[in-house]
Amino acid sequence: MAAASEDAASKGSSAGSGGGRGRWSQRGMTALVTGGTRGIGRAVVEELAALGAAVHTCSRNEADLRARLAEWDATDGLRGAVTGSVCDVSARDQRERLLRDVAARFGGRLDILVNNVGTNFTKPTTEYTAEDYSFLMATNLE
Ligand SMILES: NC(=O)c1ccc[n+]([C@@H]2O[C@H](COP(=O)([O-])OP(=O)(O)OC[C@H]3O[C@@H](n4cnc5c(N)ncnc54)[C@H](OP(=O)(O)O)[C@@H]3O)[C@@H](O)[C@H]2O)c1
Repeated sequence: MAAASEDAASKGSSAGSGGGRGRWSQRGMTALVTGGTRGIGRAVVEELAALGAAVHTCSRNEADLRARLAEWDATDGLRGAVTGSVCDVSARDQRERLLRDVAARFGGRLDILVNNVGTNFTKPTTEYTAEDYSFLMATNLE
């Protein structure tokens, strides 16, 4: 999926429709939050959008991403503020495509990066395979 919520996309670097007034205003800011469909990433997306930022997010599961974008577009204060791309950040070609999406949506300007996606294996390091190690490095550091 390229991206949903073309409304927000077409706003370029202008902020979303959130409140965003006062000391913590993010109005006029652009943000990329990886892994925004659940958990901490979702909370960060919603907070930044509510503060007025234009936010782009990603996840691997297209259905989840579409559902979340629709939910946000139906929420007062977040409507039109968030766009998204399907992307597995452990894959270089998908990361590069994500950054192209972000550049296109925000006119080449990114103020905030929240590199939320990260992973780990709950086993002793000595039991890591070469594939485990490569996956961790690709997801967490590349
Ligand atoms: N929760 C905690 O107690 C805790 C504690 C310490 C650190 N952390 C770190 O905080 C971050 C978020 O944790 P969380 O508990 O909020 O996670 P979560 O609830 O499992 O949510 C992870 C989010 O990232 C997306 N995601 C996962 N792998 C991805 C990938 N390879 N490419 C793109 N999107 C991906 C998921 O969507 P898809 O599955 O659809 O891709 C989902 O939107 C992680 O880096 C985690 O290690 C969490």
